[in-house]
Amino acid sequence: MDVSNLVEESNDRFRVSSKLYSSPEIFDQEMRDIFGSTWVYLAHESQLPDSGDYITTTIGIQPVIVTRLEDQSIAVLLNRCAHRGAVVCREGRGHADTFRCPYHAWVYANDGRLVAPAQRTGYPEEFQSWNLNLDRVPRVETYRGLIFACISSEVEPLSQRLRHIKRYIDAWDDRSPSGHTSVFAAVQEYVFPGNWKFQMENGVDGYHGNYVHESFAKLLDRSGELSLGSLTRSRNQLGSLNFSKGFPYGDGLLERSEGMLGTFDSSRYPKYREQLKDAFGEERAKDIVIQRNIFIFPNLYLFESHIRVIRPLKHDSSVVEVYPTILGGADKEVNSARLREHERFFGPASFGATDDIEMFVSAQSGARADYFEAWFDMSRGLYREKLNEDGSRVGHSTDEVPQRAAYRQWRVCMTRELGGKGIDKRGVAS
Ligand code: FES
Ligand SMILES: [Fe+2]
Repeated sequence: MDVSNLVEESNDRFRVSSKLYSSPEIFDQEMRDIFGSTWVYLAHESQLPDSGDYITTTIGIQPVIVTRLEDQSIAVLLNRCAHRGAVVCREGRGHADTFRCPYHAWVYANDGRLVAPAQRTGYPEEFQSWNLNLDRVPRVETYRGLIFACISSEVEPLSQRLRHIKRYIDAWDDRSPSGHTSVFAAVQEYVFPGNWKFQMENGVDGYHGNYVHESFAKLLDRSGELSLGSLTRSRNQLGSLNFSKGFPYGDGLLERSEGMLGTFDSSRYPKYREQLKDAFGEERAKDIVIQRNIFIFPNLYLFESHIRVIRPLKHDSSVVEVYPTILGGADKEVNSARLREHERFFGPASFGATDDIEMFVSAQSGARADYFEAWFDMSRGLYREKLNEDGSRVGHSTDEVPQRAAYRQWRVCMTRELGGKGIDKRGVAS
């Protein structure tokens, strides 16, 4: 299917077709051409500290097991029995040397090798050479504790893929004075009846905050914690600490002053600031505490105090997983404060994330009736977007710069086979 004309860009207009959210056919193609062909985030290394530890998740819609082997390396196995396809491991996480399929009890080692089929005598001797192992995902690499995998072996090394966004990942991870960021074992999950790309767009959308999160801002204003007027002013101000960025490969960034809308404010914790200064020097410490929402195409967000993973289920159904983080080397007081702020805005009974999810559901209902041709506009700030040497683009924090970057890359991935409209000579959207 040629989908290249479903993302339209001219000098000052940018829009995407509602089919991107409503078409099961496009969803299937996304699973193959995006989730099946590019680096996808799976888990954080702190979720698998010891050999034998594993978690289960998905690459797109394909169930996988992420497991730490005896030599401490990480393997990603398709969680699909070589016998008749059943999901072999049904637990979310655990510790195991072997996995036993619940259907006919074939047993696999945690590196994917078939150890034994049940009632072995039903198979001939040559059975051993039939290669009935769990398939291994060919490419698995980590960066700063973040585990990525790619189903296609023909992909650039992860460090090359991340080269434009690395400096921001480093700053995010260096919030831990000891260099050990870890995630909570427990995950907070939102399942919503909407397309996965609504979450992709939202975490670096600096436009909606004044409106969708107005109720929370009013509450902070009433309690005297924050003034609504100054919040709106600082949001609207054009300045070095209020901008959005879009990168080649579809990554995005929203950067704003610390402490905005009740988020963690490190200036209230001088000892923590001193620790960062001692560990990284004064200039770098200042950079590290800047509040950033970082998006790594297609499914990872690094927020101030949590990792957010997008898992598509169907064209109109998705899961968002939220993993709060703990900063190694920081005082308990700092980690507790971060968690309290997190719960207040992003938790299940919060004022922030829940409002966003409601908007995704609402937008899905706008896209659903695709017998009316609909286009969704993402032109905000295109006329003033600045293109840098390295292919990144920058605009005001309320501009739709990151969303456009993501959809440019979406088009690159989805049209690669057709010769790719909009692909530059590196095969990357810019
Ligand atoms: S499907 Fe797994 S053992 Fe039969
Ligand atoms: Fe939001």
